[in-house]
Amino acid sequence: MTNNISFSKEAENIIELIQNTDENLFVTGKAGTGKSTLLEYIAKQDHSIIVLAPTGIAAINVKGETIHSFFRLKPGYELDEAKHVTINDRIRARYTKIHTVIIDEISMVRADLLDAIDIFLQRTRRSTKPFGGVRMIFFGDLFQLPPVLLNQQKEEFLRKYKSPYFFSAHTFIQRDLFSEAFKLRKCELRTIYRQKDPVFTNLLNSVRENRLENSQLQLLNQQVRVSPTTDNQFQINLVSTNAIAKSINLDNLKLIKSEEKTFTANHTGNIENLQPNDPEVILKVGAQVMFLNNDPNKRWVNGTVGKITAFGEGIDEETNQPYPYVAVELEDGHTVKAAPFTWEISKYSFKAGNFEREQIGTYTQIPLKLAWAITIHKSQGKTFNKVKINLGRGSFAHGQTYVALSRCRTLENIALSHPIKQSDIIVDQDVLNFINS
Ligand SMILES: Nc1ncnc2c1ncn2[C@@H]1O[C@H](COP(=O)(O)OP(=O)(O)OP(=O)(O)O)[C@@H](O)[C@H]1O
Ligand SMILES: [Mg+2]
Repeated sequence: MTNNISFSKEAENIIELIQNTDENLFVTGKAGTGKSTLLEYIAKQDHSIIVLAPTGIAAINVKGETIHSFFRLKPGYELDEAKHVTINDRIRARYTKIHTVIIDEISMVRADLLDAIDIFLQRTRRSTKPFGGVRMIFFGDLFQLPPVLLNQQKEEFLRKYKSPYFFSAHTFIQRDLFSEAFKLRKCELRTIYRQKDPVFTNLLNSVRENRLENSQLQLLNQQVRVSPTTDNQFQINLVSTNAIAKSINLDNLKLIKSEEKTFTANHTGNIENLQPNDPEVILKVGAQVMFLNNDPNKRWVNGTVGKITAFGEGIDEETNQPYPYVAVELEDGHTVKAAPFTWEISKYSFKAGNFEREQIGTYTQIPLKLAWAITIHKSQGKTFNKVKINLGRGSFAHGQTYVALSRCRTLENIALSHPIKQSDIIVDQDVLNFINS
């Protein structure tokens, strides 16, 4: 994918900064400005850069590893582990070798996790410098979804931290962010690639920064479609909770009278939480599905939506073994055949004095999942052609409405189940303060 795109001036500038300086960077930009695309390109050019992300899905997207796995942190006990884990010479030798860490989806990284990274690197590298002297590069958009902070954790967390965002980490506050000790240069990508229509991108930018004018709100709410739209083929419902997404998918599957077919995953090695799809996937002819991989022959990408038209069996030319396939009609009218796909699951391992990506196992499964609905959370990072947005009783999180609306390439192909209200647009004051600092 990165072979046939050209980069903007700002993107070229960021590539230059990463390759020719050792500055710490915060690479940001509105939704669809090509942050993930650029990150993937940079990581491809220099294999000694460590690429990490807060969740398994985000890590697989950029061919990286999760923060927890790379720093050996147990979810829920990150700070304790970073402070108290025994560090032997072997571990010391490994982490001393790192020079650059890139973290994608930084908006979802919680302040205490960043502190845990800081403490762990200082201890392993016997250095009191921020992050033990490792160069940090953060990618993400703070106007998109925030870190997860469960209700029962909230009170205690907010006693220790000003906000859940990465920039509230003690390492920055204590050392005075942007000070001599840790300078973080902000770089912004400005060209939006996902949407083309300037009226729509202006509207999205206003939602992003909570400065939507009434005329824009009216324009947006012309997309309200209360009853199911007649043309809802390939339309994906973006909803607020996992439970709602699951029930929409199961209800729609039940409505189909054809026989169901179950695909079971095989895996080798200890792949921990890096599962690219469910162990059991139940599908039927007529079901709306989404692809979870990039087709090596470029017929589909991760996020492409389609409809199952048939199940069949092919014969592998090399092994002569039969394999199942699913025929999927895509939005452009083409029908493609999807066979089980083998993901190579890799992690960083320490070899001959350096961290290298090493395959730790494989995961083979049909690269499809039911896609009448997904949560807005899981839609972050993806691009869709046709969406229906249902915020339930209203948006409840910073960035939620912006992420939902900005997934779609065009305004015409957004259907809203309810009118959007000014109160659905929530922008955290902490984020504004940081951005304007
Ligand atoms: N330099 C480019 N030239 C042409 N198309 C691009 C370029 N960069 C990205 N795109 C396309 O624009 C879309 C959005 O790109 P990408 O997902 O990298 O953006 P993003 O900034 O990471 O968005 P988000 O904030 O939603 O995660 C994709 O369809 C991608 O293929
Ligand atoms: Mg992205």
